[in-house]
Amino acid sequence: MKHEVVEKNSALMGVLIAVVISIGGLVEIVPLAMSSEATQPAPGVQPYTALQLEGRDVYIREGCYNCHSQMIRPLRGETERYGHYSLAGESVYDHPFQFGSKRTGPDLARVGGRYSDEWQRRHLLNPRDLVPESNMPGYPWLENQVIDADGTAAKMKALRMVGVPYTDEQVAGAADEVRNRSEMDALIAYLQVLGTASKGWK
Ligand code: HEC
Repeated sequence: MKHEVVEKNSALMGVLIAVVISIGGLVEIVPLAMSSEATQPAPGVQPYTALQLEGRDVYIREGCYNCHSQMIRPLRGETERYGHYSLAGESVYDHPFQFGSKRTGPDLARVGGRYSDEWQRRHLLNPRDLVPESNMPGYPWLENQVIDADGTAAKMKALRMVGVPYTDEQVAGAADEVRNRSEMDALIAYLQVLGTASKGWK
């Protein structure tokens, strides 16, 4: 019996398992990679400004994603709390995306505009000043560290190579936009833009 041949030959079985899993994977991945819904920006989604981009790098460096996801699932409990569920087209300019799955704190995909800049600043300095029961750490040093303005344009050029449509003017103006701004300013600019494109969606 042919089946017996496979069952008695573990190497052959291994190869066949790999083939089956690859087909399953391709069937899932290829249509998504081709679909414009996943590869084109969702309505209103813009590339990050120079300052927001630097703030995103601070977010990644400080490991905010260890406690915060940016991925609202299409479940009623989530959309009631956070707003429209996340679309793939919202992350087309994110390299890498910050979906995450660990939620020690709330999801941040729609946090832009929920609080004032001043709230965000005080919260990042010491969360317990505003939310007494919070176990989020404070990040007071961000206030005293200045963005390295000479590096921003290079980051934008690198992102342009992977498809983020930065114009020459944006790249040329990057250093001036971030010069003498603190990492705190940049991080707040980033937080304040998260999810703002979704405001007009139904
Ligand atoms: C140890 C886990 C932890 C880390 C790391 C962490 N947070 Fe939080 N965060 C929380 C918790 C818990 C809350 C909810 C209580 C509060 O508001 O402080 C929260 C709340 C927030 C809120 C308010 C969200 C809302 O909808 O009310 C923002 C904004 C935020 N965090 C941003 C950040 C940023 C930016 C970083 C990285 C610099 C960060 N967090 C790192 C745990 C964390």
